[in-house]
Amino acid sequence: MASRPLLTIVLAAGKGTRMKSAVPKVLHRVGGLSLLGHALRATGSLGAGAVAVVIGPDMEAVRSEALALAPGTGIFVQDQQLGTAHAVLAARAAIAGHSGDVLVVFADTPLIAPGTLRSLVDRLDAETPLAVLGFEAADPTGYGRLLCDAAGGISAIREHKDATEAERALTFCCSGVMAFRREEMLDMLGEIGTGNVQGEYYLTDAVAVARSKGFRVAAQACAEEEVLGINSRNQLAMAEAVFQRRFRDRVMAEGATLVAPETVWFSHDTLVGRDVTIEPNVFFGPGVIVEDEVRIHANCHLEGAHVRRGAAVGPFARLRPGADLGTGVRIGNFVEVKNVTLEAGAKANHLAYLGDGRVGAGANVGAGTIFCNYDGFLKHRTEVGPGAFIGSNSALVAPVSIGPGAYVGSGSVVTRNVPADALALERSELTIREGWAAKFRAMMQRRKSMKSS
Ligand code: UD1
Ligand code: MG
Repeated sequence: MASRPLLTIVLAAGKGTRMKSAVPKVLHRVGGLSLLGHALRATGSLGAGAVAVVIGPDMEAVRSEALALAPGTGIFVQDQQLGTAHAVLAARAAIAGHSGDVLVVFADTPLIAPGTLRSLVDRLDAETPLAVLGFEAADPTGYGRLLCDAAGGISAIREHKDATEAERALTFCCSGVMAFRREEMLDMLGEIGTGNVQGEYYLTDAVAVARSKGFRVAAQACAEEEVLGINSRNQLAMAEAVFQRRFRDRVMAEGATLVAPETVWFSHDTLVGRDVTIEPNVFFGPGVIVEDEVRIHANCHLEGAHVRRGAAVGPFARLRPGADLGTGVRIGNFVEVKNVTLEAGAKANHLAYLGDGRVGAGANVGAGTIFCNYDGFLKHRTEVGPGAFIGSNSALVAPVSIGPGAYVGSGSVVTRNVPADALALERSELTIREGWAAKFRAMMQRRKSMKSS
């Protein structure tokens, strides 16, 4: 069936008190992306035009997040939390102005696949103005139960608190995600009352209303894991675990080797190429691109970095935002890189801080080199030309540039620009006293024996 225009309503007005947090629940993160972001991402990738987010009063941070992630989003404030049907009606203006289908999702359910939402919406037709996403619950306590009818549809949803013992024994449960045809939707919602144990307007009562009008209601099943709702920090960690497992599986399916997949942590936006090998205990913060044939050795932390083809990182390296590693670059143990471009084949193999600058192709940055980029007030750049060699334990005091092919002698503090192919050496003269050590030892030995006798 050709799909009709879709309006998605994301319910996010709940306070989320069980998170015990000053941060609204839907701004907590899974894989580095807010729960709201996951909901918007799942719905956005349906090719849907319109999105409306329903927030509570005093949730300006949620408004900003929604607008930052999906600029065209309509934001509606539900002043009092009187139930899920009431929340949907807070977006009445969006519904009234829409023609097509309307999908309602919860902002605290981050693991739903876009395909699952699509197949739910596809269940709608002229006789079926409502479709509900259900799942078989391992433990159905607390969920609404889907009451099935003989025709393979559902006749009602019974909230746990309102259910009889027999109904509570049912395990096919409501995920909360529902799809409506716009034509019948506002009439149906208008008939929902508060005649239930909690005195709330239940969106789930739309099922009984639809049936009373002679319509069918379809139930679409999905895996329980997809509709895991986040109410506590514990469930947040469970969702993170599922997210990470799926992400690792995908990265491996796309041609990367994870030596110990369960120890690698990805961000929602990590891009990993083919024939990449990632050793154990690697953490990806947001914004990392890893191109083909890269090796990330054990125990690295990467964020906002671009690692180009054939480069090698770590073990124990830290790449911070703006680290741009060219092809074949090598960053070794205990090297931190921030906002520095390393051109093809450049190396910093041991114990260094490279901040704010550029290292030219094939340059070698020795052990213990520091780019002194910060004077306590401002940041400055360090330029290392192609083929330059920075001797160990050098401090390059920015702003400074080392010309192409130049040498910096070990232990130098470089405060002026070094021309191409020059040597910069900042070092007091070395003194050598022949035989001094032997004399010193003999003298100390005598002193010690005089003391102890
Ligand atoms: C809901 C469903 C239940 C389903 C369960 C799945 C109803 C009546 N029940 O119950 O059948 O099994 O989800 O997790 O829908 N919200 C608002 N404003 C409100 C109330 C809620 O925006 O006035 C938002 C919440 O922020 C949340 C979502 O709606 O994102 C669900 O609300 P919640 O109170 O968690 O519903 P449940 O009781 O879990
Ligand atoms: Mg809930």
